[in-house]
Amino acid sequence: MMAKAKFDQIKGFVFDLDGVITDTSVYHSIAWHQLADKLGVTWTKTLEDGLKGISRMDSLEMILKAGNKENDYTQEEKVALATEKNDNYVNEIMKMTPANILPGIKPFLDELRSNGYLISLASASKNGPTVLDKLALTDYFPEIVDPATLSKGKPDPEIYVKGAELLNLKPEECIGVEDAAAGVQAINAANETSIGIGDPTILSEADINFKETAEMTLDAIKQAL
Ligand code: G6P
Ligand code: MG
Repeated sequence: MMAKAKFDQIKGFVFDLDGVITDTSVYHSIAWHQLADKLGVTWTKTLEDGLKGISRMDSLEMILKAGNKENDYTQEEKVALATEKNDNYVNEIMKMTPANILPGIKPFLDELRSNGYLISLASASKNGPTVLDKLALTDYFPEIVDPATLSKGKPDPEIYVKGAELLNLKPEECIGVEDAAAGVQAINAANETSIGIGDPTILSEADINFKETAEMTLDAIKQAL
């Protein structure tokens, strides 16, 4: 795919959190898997991958739909189920430390900061600020999109548009970083340059792909653009 921007145009980075900064995507998956088992919904790799980047309530709806159970619960029951998943998830993230930052991410954030790039967070997670705090990365993210203010989740571009706006940058001046297909689609729809971290077959729509976070450096991005 032709990259949208040249490297010299880029002034800021808009980051996803879960699966990019830290491996909380594993904790999300474990907690949803537990709930799916309880609801009698078969857990598959496709369902697991499809849930990445998707808001809490939308994730629950996807799981119920996968088991043809979308009409089996009242709204109140659905909120209780989502709360149960979140309680399990929060239990796990409370045990996190800076050792849970994915390889290469801290040096990359330092590299961005020392080269004057602006940084914001575009995570659908309402637990984002807590996770950053546990990782001791709060200072790197002065601007965080509040997912409670969004009218649509990823793959809608809204969260990435807001991530650029918080930095007072145009979308073309931003690179978005994602591990989820829905997130890469959101970045592309926002007209930002997309980096996909992980399986290139799942993230085939990304402008740049890195299999591992450790591969992401300014130099590697410059080479790719
Ligand atoms: C991120 C994760 C999803 C999660 C969503 C909401 O996008 O990739 O797996 O469902 O955030 O997270 P929350 O912590 O608010 O339930
Ligand atoms: Mg993610």
